[in-house]
Amino acid sequence: MIEEDERSSSRRAMKTIDLRSDTVTQPTASMREAIATAVVGDDVFDEDPTVHRLQERMAALTAKETALFVPSGTMSNQLALRAQTRWGDQILCHGDAHIYRYEAGAPAALSGLQIATLESSDGSISREQIEKARNPDDLHCARAALVAFENTHNRCGGRILDHGELVETANWARSTGLRVHLDGARLWNAAAATGISIAEWTAPFDSVSLCLSKGLGAPVGSVLVASREVIERARRIRKQWGGGMRQAGLLAAAGLHALDHHVDRLAEDHRRAAWLAREWKHPRLRLAAAPETNIVLFDVLSGAGSAAVVADLGELGIRVSAFGERRVRLVTHLGIDDGDCEEVLARLDRAYPGRKEPR
Ligand SMILES: Cc1ncc(COP(=O)(O)O)c(C=O)c1O
Repeated sequence: MIEEDERSSSRRAMKTIDLRSDTVTQPTASMREAIATAVVGDDVFDEDPTVHRLQERMAALTAKETALFVPSGTMSNQLALRAQTRWGDQILCHGDAHIYRYEAGAPAALSGLQIATLESSDGSISREQIEKARNPDDLHCARAALVAFENTHNRCGGRILDHGELVETANWARSTGLRVHLDGARLWNAAAATGISIAEWTAPFDSVSLCLSKGLGAPVGSVLVASREVIERARRIRKQWGGGMRQAGLLAAAGLHALDHHVDRLAEDHRRAAWLAREWKHPRLRLAAAPETNIVLFDVLSGAGSAAVVADLGELGIRVSAFGERRVRLVTHLGIDDGDCEEVLARLDRAYPGRKEPR
């Protein structure tokens, strides 16, 4: 009885270490200060000076004509699709792309799009795949309009697309009349890991969506960058979809703060992801691939699936995500420091003494 009481009180005292996603971060004290002191206006009237500052800064950083601040990565991606296609068009993307798997069917529901999915284990899309999957210019077929890439690739474990191949394929696709969009929710991580600048990554794309609320630790917000023409169309659709925000400068201030203070530190997230991947010892999990950025995937070995492993880890105060039936994902972020990594590894050692990761 006493032992039982001690166990439950130590469980209560145990800090939960949340590795489910880089979206679980809390705004820092200085970010909250930046939010509190932001100068704001009505952004639906296009009169918020802090939103203007963020949009101008993002356009400069990505070397695009202009930018639009929006509530989420999903809205940003979907605005890009809608603004650059017509009802009944065909778009092409990876079969594990966020725009296809995790945006609630929005390409069909909001823009009447038919999607052709392309498969690869690393998130890449080749010229040959596009050539094969795109519809011919034939009145019986949906008009092939746009190809969307994702970098880093979430479901492929934060993989970075090869820059040279990406530029070549995207440029070629554009030369054949397709629009080219990049879901760059975590493009910051690709830039941090490779040293290739954001502008070099964005160069071949007509539109790019970048998130402020993932690795950069802002509470809300994404930015779509593109030509003036595309952004003007997107602004009107954003209003139609209820995404016009009034004193949005409060949120844009958090984004500006994140750009000033949370970009350089992404290398720390990558180092910690590599450390956890290397040292993680669990009898039922095998590392799927060495992480390239802040996402680590494990395969669940035979027996009960990912939900059971997630629940067991939850008992140890370690939160991770089930990523399909037999995959588990963990993500390092602004809220995870070296002490948290040491603590996670110590808890695994205590729970599974002497157990090595199965090979
Ligand atoms: C690659 C990718 N794109 C887009 C999104 C959508 O972002 P949001 O959750 O802000 O809608 C996510 C969210 O995790 C993502 O991982």
